[in-house]
Amino acid sequence: MTIMTASFANPKNDAASIERRVQALLAEMTLAEKIGQMNQVNASDEDMPHHLREAIEAGRVGSVLNQVDVDTVNELQRIAVQESRLGIPLLVGRDVIHGFKTVMPIPLGQAATWNPDIVREGARVAAREAATAGINWTFAPMIDISRDPRWGRIAESLGEDPYLASQLAVAMVEGFQGDDLTDAGTIAATAKHFAGYGASESGRDYATVNIPENELRNVHLPPFKAAVDTGVVSLMAAFSDLDGVPATGNEFLLRDVLRDEWDFTGFVVSDWDSVRQLAIHGLTEDDRESVYQAVTAGVDMEMAGQSYVQHLESLIDEGRIDVATIDAMVANILRAKFRLGLFEKPYTDPRALPPIANEHALDTARQAALQSAVLLKNDHGVLPLSANKLKSVAVIGPLADAPYEQLGTWIFDGDRELSITPMHAIHSLVGHEVDVRYLRAMDNSRSRASEAFDEAEEIARDSDVVLLFLGEESILSGEAHSRADINLPGDQAELVRRVKAAGKPVIAIIQAGRPLTLTNIIDDVDAILFAWHPGTMGGPAIAELLFGVESPSGKLPVTFPRMVGQIPIYYSQKNTGKPPSPETVVLIDDIDAHAPQLSTGMTAYHLDAGFTPLFPFGYGLSYTEFDYQDIRTSAEEVGLGDTLTVSAELTNVGDFDAEEVVQLYVRDLVANVTRPVKELKGFRRLRLESGQTVTVNFELHTSDLAFFGRDMKLINEPGKFHAWIGGSSETQLRTEFRIIDGD
Ligand code: GLC
Repeated sequence: MTIMTASFANPKNDAASIERRVQALLAEMTLAEKIGQMNQVNASDEDMPHHLREAIEAGRVGSVLNQVDVDTVNELQRIAVQESRLGIPLLVGRDVIHGFKTVMPIPLGQAATWNPDIVREGARVAAREAATAGINWTFAPMIDISRDPRWGRIAESLGEDPYLASQLAVAMVEGFQGDDLTDAGTIAATAKHFAGYGASESGRDYATVNIPENELRNVHLPPFKAAVDTGVVSLMAAFSDLDGVPATGNEFLLRDVLRDEWDFTGFVVSDWDSVRQLAIHGLTEDDRESVYQAVTAGVDMEMAGQSYVQHLESLIDEGRIDVATIDAMVANILRAKFRLGLFEKPYTDPRALPPIANEHALDTARQAALQSAVLLKNDHGVLPLSANKLKSVAVIGPLADAPYEQLGTWIFDGDRELSITPMHAIHSLVGHEVDVRYLRAMDNSRSRASEAFDEAEEIARDSDVVLLFLGEESILSGEAHSRADINLPGDQAELVRRVKAAGKPVIAIIQAGRPLTLTNIIDDVDAILFAWHPGTMGGPAIAELLFGVESPSGKLPVTFPRMVGQIPIYYSQKNTGKPPSPETVVLIDDIDAHAPQLSTGMTAYHLDAGFTPLFPFGYGLSYTEFDYQDIRTSAEEVGLGDTLTVSAELTNVGDFDAEEVVQLYVRDLVANVTRPVKELKGFRRLRLESGQTVTVNFELHTSDLAFFGRDMKLINEPGKFHAWIGGSSETQLRTEFRIIDGD
């Protein structure tokens, strides 16, 4: 019999009425029912516990994950709502990371669009499609700052920069959650993995993380703060051992920062089984102590483990955990369920939502793929190709026609049947006037078998131009898929050399889940289009870019190293006391045989790599040229608390109408703690016709320049600043201003 939550249904959904309903429901709950809300169960078809229905009916389950059959979800919801004593609906979770059936570019690729609007729309499309399966909660966005391309999960991140990641994190949360979470087609979002997971030692997944608090606060926490401030429903604790205290048991993170400093009112979910892993870390001696640590730290819900259900009641009976603590944690979960309107509308009618893979969904995926691709090299303007000037095109490589691989990592529900591959898209676009010859040449990106390379060279020789589709399959990035060597896998470099030997223009289109060290092929190709894993509509997007329907406009959200040994390498580095410069660097091949010890510049660089990346953060070429002039500020000085405008003139001086991502960087020259040599503080994607000039203005409030000082407090200091505007982090167009004390 259900004490139906009729008294909790149908009221306004404002915070005050939600709070009243939360407290009223809490007062009705037994301790066992409260603990049940803290329990998330894996309900995938393969692993659904056969007692799941009874457990839901007994009120021992608050959430399920990985069940995507809408009829099954509705049945589980019906049991929860109509057969359990209090009728509390279930949260139904799924990793909807970059699309559900219609797949967007991987998040790192979406970050390369530098376009919050397309990122938001991609999340909105994903939410609507996921909602048709009964999903009401996604474990996304993943907003770990990632500066190590060896780490497989960089694919899932929004890149290396706190400002860019913050802006795009907000866009994703807004896309998933909409304006009102009670609206059909909106789902709760999760900011993950809190926090610092992207700094895993050596890029090995799940490895130890050590981040000084100042760095944690200035670099890794800002995207999470932005997500919390925009109303994200939940956060997920990271697997990582952070400075000796794994995030899942880290009270500093989950209570001091998240609750006391940020006033977060949502709920925290563990990562998969990460509560039990506290004993494996060596933080606790057994499951029971792990539960004590996780609850004390503030993990409201345990994902896919049964430790809470097994040990919480006895810890409370012993008085080691207060019921008041449990009440507050359960309130966090109930609050989310009320915000979602689950008490009013627990069931899903797919017919009430737009059809899967509708025209808007596919066009959003195509637009995102178009804007995410980054043109890294384009010698002699070999791109764009003109179909009317070509008789034949060779399409060669293991990733030209790989409908699943182009979807990238973290797509449990992506439909490969929807994928349009580059090979098919090129045929559709130009096949009626150009002879398109296709050869896979390698079974997969890791192949060491080169028997097809003779044929590849021959086809190249017989064609006007070669489109070489290279990279990594989906499986080579993502969770637990880190690489120590980030060259193109297998014998791809040899394939490049063989195709180059044919003497025709070679254009490399690279699909991968991470930056790759391209140093060993860059001189053998005339152009490089880096497409990440571009998703369902990657093919049409790549074809349209290659044949000039649109100009590439993506910009790197992460630095591309020359060599893996340079990692970590990122633009917003500190100056150090001995910064390198072209004048001070003596590279290994230039060192005299008997060079004395002090003859190589004595600054911060590698003898065999120098100090610059292969391609810097914010970099990306276009089919046109953008010229930046006349940077200036609205004043030479700005008082603390005021706003300054930084402007420049931007002209499209080329022949192609195209989009440019204009970037604003700032440097705080002298501060309480050393500050980076450049920090992104603004960006805007603009479309300019050939010959068009626009004035770009960035409003900079002095609070935008606040940082955490030695005492870990957010501070704003007077002093001198440099500001740059340009099309990459290497822009030299600079001005300066001073912040003065207001009084
Ligand atoms: C995984 C991931 C996390 C994901 C969760 C559920 O281990 O770390 O990002 O959301 O489990 O699949």
